[in-house]
Amino acid sequence: MSFISRPILIAVDGPAASGKGTIARALAKHFDLPHMDTGMLYRAVALTMFRFGGDPASEFEALRACEGVAQIDPTDPELRSEVVGSIASRISTYAGVRSALLDRQRNFASQASGAVLDGRDIGTVIAPEASAKLFVTASAEVRARRRVAELLSRGMPAHLEDVLIDIRARDARDSGRDTAPLVQAPDADLLDTSEMDIDDAITTAIGLVERKLAALA
Ligand code: CDP
Repeated sequence: MSFISRPILIAVDGPAASGKGTIARALAKHFDLPHMDTGMLYRAVALTMFRFGGDPASEFEALRACEGVAQIDPTDPELRSEVVGSIASRISTYAGVRSALLDRQRNFASQASGAVLDGRDIGTVIAPEASAKLFVTASAEVRARRRVAELLSRGMPAHLEDVLIDIRARDARDSGRDTAPLVQAPDADLLDTSEMDIDDAITTAIGLVERKLAALA
């Protein structure tokens, strides 16, 4: 369903394990748009470093690892591991890494078909012109429980307390960094999924986006 003449561009941002990826995929399906999970770009840099023994504390080494992104298989299950997520969270604080990954994201956002992108800075930095923006969140405890369930379902080890500590550390890094910190864009709709199951969250997200598109028509 299309309400407006310009391409539909949807920005979905939010903290770790908020459900933004699932919501973004569902929006892409509903509005028939291509989808980019921008966290996978940061994870690809992290996996490159992990494989070559790079030090995440070195911005220089992280920048070098950006050149390896195209060589990473996007279906590699290791991309989704906690260790890679944790490295991704650290190297994503470097301004140089963020700018090395910028064009790829902007090109995806500006394609003629429209697009859905999810990440941390889509509505604020990558696509401030987006037709609809969602800021998806949930309490840290709820997000930690979801992340544990997700990891266990993929056969990966997970302990609630460790995951909660890690989620809080990631929140602090995401919100506290100087370049493109995680912040709700002023024109984004807030979607708190703490009390929602995933079907409710998707239905609510579709409703919010449809309202935004209708207002633009
Ligand atoms: O959901 P989770 O935080 O585990 O992972 P993700 O969305 O795959 O992102 C991995 C890491 O990349 C996050 O910890 C973020 O710090 C970072 N990231 C970012 O800085 N900007 C984005 N647009 C996407 C992810």
